[in-house]
Amino acid sequence: MPCFSRPGTPWGASRLERTMELVRTPLVSSDTQPVLYGADPARRITMRDLQAATDKGQRWPMITAYDALSAGVFDDAGIPALLVGDSAGMVVFGHDTTIAVTVEELVMLVRAVVKGSKRALVIADLPFGSYQASPAQALDTAVFFMQKGGAHAVKLEGGAAVLPQIELLANSGISVIGHLGLTPQSVNLLGGYRVQGRGESGELLLRDAKALEAAGATAVVLELVPADLAARVSEVLTIPTIGIGAGPHTDAQVIVWQDLVGLTSGPTPKFVKRYADLRSIMTEAVTDWASEVASGDYPAAEHTYK
Ligand code: KIV
Repeated sequence: MPCFSRPGTPWGASRLERTMELVRTPLVSSDTQPVLYGADPARRITMRDLQAATDKGQRWPMITAYDALSAGVFDDAGIPALLVGDSAGMVVFGHDTTIAVTVEELVMLVRAVVKGSKRALVIADLPFGSYQASPAQALDTAVFFMQKGGAHAVKLEGGAAVLPQIELLANSGISVIGHLGLTPQSVNLLGGYRVQGRGESGELLLRDAKALEAAGATAVVLELVPADLAARVSEVLTIPTIGIGAGPHTDAQVIVWQDLVGLTSGPTPKFVKRYADLRSIMTEAVTDWASEVASGDYPAAEHTYK
């Protein structure tokens, strides 16, 4: 049994014990089994498995991942799809937007996520500037993510303007996911992170969604759009819709994992529900450790080699 009592720390043992209890307490009851997507637990989940789940009316989760360790946690939890999002720009690289993320930076994260997971489908986001110029550029970038990173699918942002890209990728045998609504790579044009598709622009988004499906997209992310619009899109498309800030009627939901577990700080968008307070737990753990380093209580005899 590990010993958690740390005489001499100003915080005392009970705070750490409470923290450890929080970490150990499952957030879902232990009789809740994760849904098994895909027929064969010994192989990776495919987009076809997720399409089959959607066809059966089964809603499924997708979460971002940027490193091997967290990818392993999500994989063990039975999350069927991991998105190596260019949101890495904010939560990994510390930028204000996704614009600065490069292909070279993201491919390393894709590789780590593929290595850290066994079952999940791993989707690589195509960074800003790596696919807009031409379908050939999009194909080169997607191939790079699949060959160097091991990605199983790619995602790119935009509607009518990227249809030739979607078409070429799909015709080349690549599973490509579209992204409509708030498209963060266009933040400078959109003038901020705000809800898209209200009023008449909703009809345009609906048209774009149908066109993406017709061009060969295997799913479409709907970000920050009114729930009614997301419901209409989900109704007319056969491919899965994956919502983030798009209400409850999409076929799947995606979330940035640091938002989900309360690691990010400051105000969060309305759609974020925090399922844990990891920031407090980590802060407590490192301050306790720092205090024990200062007091000399760590490392103790049991942490020391003879
Ligand atoms: O980059 C990302 O994490 C995303 C999701 C928010 C959909 O694109």
